[in-house]
Amino acid sequence: MGSGIAQVIAQASIRTVLTDADTANLERGLEAIASRWERQVATGRCSAEDAAGFQANLSSGTIADAASADLVIEAIIEKPEPKSSLFKELAPIAPPPTIFASNTSSISISTLGHASGRPERFVGLHFFNPVPVLPLVEIVRGLETSDLTLAASKRFAEAIGKTPIVVNDSPGFVANRVLLPMINEAIFALQDGVAPATSIDEVMKLGMSHPMGPLALADLIGLDICLGILETMHRDFGDDKYRPAPILRRLVGAGKLGRKSGQGFYEY
Ligand SMILES: NC(=O)c1ccc[n+]([C@@H]2O[C@H](COP(=O)([O-])OP(=O)(O)OC[C@H]3O[C@@H](n4cnc5c(N)ncnc54)[C@H](O)[C@@H]3O)[C@@H](O)[C@H]2O)c1
Repeated sequence: MGSGIAQVIAQASIRTVLTDADTANLERGLEAIASRWERQVATGRCSAEDAAGFQANLSSGTIADAASADLVIEAIIEKPEPKSSLFKELAPIAPPPTIFASNTSSISISTLGHASGRPERFVGLHFFNPVPVLPLVEIVRGLETSDLTLAASKRFAEAIGKTPIVVNDSPGFVANRVLLPMINEAIFALQDGVAPATSIDEVMKLGMSHPMGPLALADLIGLDICLGILETMHRDFGDDKYRPAPILRRLVGAGKLGRKSGQGFYEY
């Protein structure tokens, strides 16, 4: 997600710094962006000069670069503790006016805002996968997110060519509160032997006009991310209707995370 987000921001003529705790992942992200721009040139969607301009807006860095940032967008692992620790680390580096945002799929923006020490200038900017393709940014307003932060977030989303929709802070927000129970139910149907994965996906594609089936979509999102979202909703709502299917937990435990690891419900 980080590379997709960095790509669309750099394309909007905004200076962008991408960083990752894992340098191999950082390199992979930068290479993925460069190859997507090459493909845009090869298919005539932008000129070579445009692509060179995009590339000039993008660099790799470290969290020390937050010292000169207007906006910091976090897109790390979907677990509350590492996200809170990262924002605590960023707090003394970024100047007070810098807005902090999380691309979390489900974790409380009010809680992360509190950890950051700047809850008024903290917001959820929830992008969708693949970021360069999907137009939505779900903007999540925490309990203390200020009107100014919200207005700046909406302007930012529009400036990078996205359509913002503002929602309140609640586990899973709107998108994943609706989507993940469907994906989880598809996984339970697979576990119960109702049909094989391909049939479950075909039913939803042919019968419901979904562009991809729920199991293929889970593989695209990442099974660890799906599990993280379900765990957050299960814990924060205290409602068993969000309990993750045991085979989802088993696949994640075995390192089968979907497309990014080469295997999930399907092989890649
Ligand atoms: N995958 C999706 O479809 C999707 C969609 C919307 C939002 N999100 C959210 O975006 C975030 C990232 O998801 P992803 O699918 O890109 O995950 P991912 O596992 O592909 O990437 C996470 C990256 O974060 C890095 N990282 C982990 N801890 C770090 C730290 N402390 N500091 C710096 N970097 C660190 C990892 O090295 C890795 O490169 C999650 O919060 C997820 O819920 C994901």
